[in-house]
Amino acid sequence: MNVLDVMRTGPVIPVIAIEDLAHAVSLAKALVAGGVRVLEVTLRTAVGLDSIRAIAREVPDAIVGVGTLTRPEEFAKALEAGARFGVSPGLTPSMIEAAHQTGLPLLPGVMTPSDVIAARLAGFQQLKLFPAQQAGGIGMLKALGGPFPDVMFCPTGGVSVDNAPDFLALPNVACVGGSWLVPKAAAVAGDWGKITALAKEASALKPR
Ligand code: 3PG
Repeated sequence: MNVLDVMRTGPVIPVIAIEDLAHAVSLAKALVAGGVRVLEVTLRTAVGLDSIRAIAREVPDAIVGVGTLTRPEEFAKALEAGARFGVSPGLTPSMIEAAHQTGLPLLPGVMTPSDVIAARLAGFQQLKLFPAQQAGGIGMLKALGGPFPDVMFCPTGGVSVDNAPDFLALPNVACVGGSWLVPKAAAVAGDWGKITALAKEASALKPR
C-alpha cells in the first residue's frame, strides 16, 4: 500500500495516543467496527510501539501506521513492529533518509510553501498539513493548490467532525486527520461503544 492508497481508504485518519497497552486491541477493534480501518498510533506514549505490534498481530482488518515520527531511528522500529505507513509532524534530512532506507511509506508534515517544496524534492507528493487550522485551514489549502496542483494533503490539527466536510470538499484534500474519534475519557473508561459510534460518524463523512 502506498500513502495515497492509505489516504483514500476512508475520509478520516484517527490520531491515536494509547496510554494502556491492554486497551490497544479493543480500541482498534472498536474503530474498525465503525468502519475506520486506517489507524495512526502515535509514539507520544510509552506503549505506542507495542500497541502497533499488538494491533498488527491481532486486528487483521486494521491498517495500522505509526504517528508522531520525529527521529530517524523510529522508522525501522515501527516497521519491525508492523506499521504499514508513517506520519510525521514535520520533515528533516535525516528523516528523509530513514524513510528512503527503510521503505516505510511516509506522510510527512508541512506548514509552509518552502516545506512543501523540500518535501516534494525529496519525493513526497502526499503531505500532512500540520497544524492545519493554525496554518490557515481552508484558505491555506486553497492557496497551496495554486503553486502545487500535484500535491494532495491530509489536513490535521484542529479538524473536527463539524469542519471536516469543508476540508474534504477541497480538490487537494484526500482525507483529514484528527484525534476526536478517540476521546481520552472514553479510552480510559474502555467505552468502546462510544468509540465505534464516533468512528461510524467519521467514516460516513462526505464533502459538504
Ligand atoms: C496531531 O498530532 O496530528 C494532532 O494532535 C491532531 O490534532 P487534533 O488533536 O486537533 O485532532
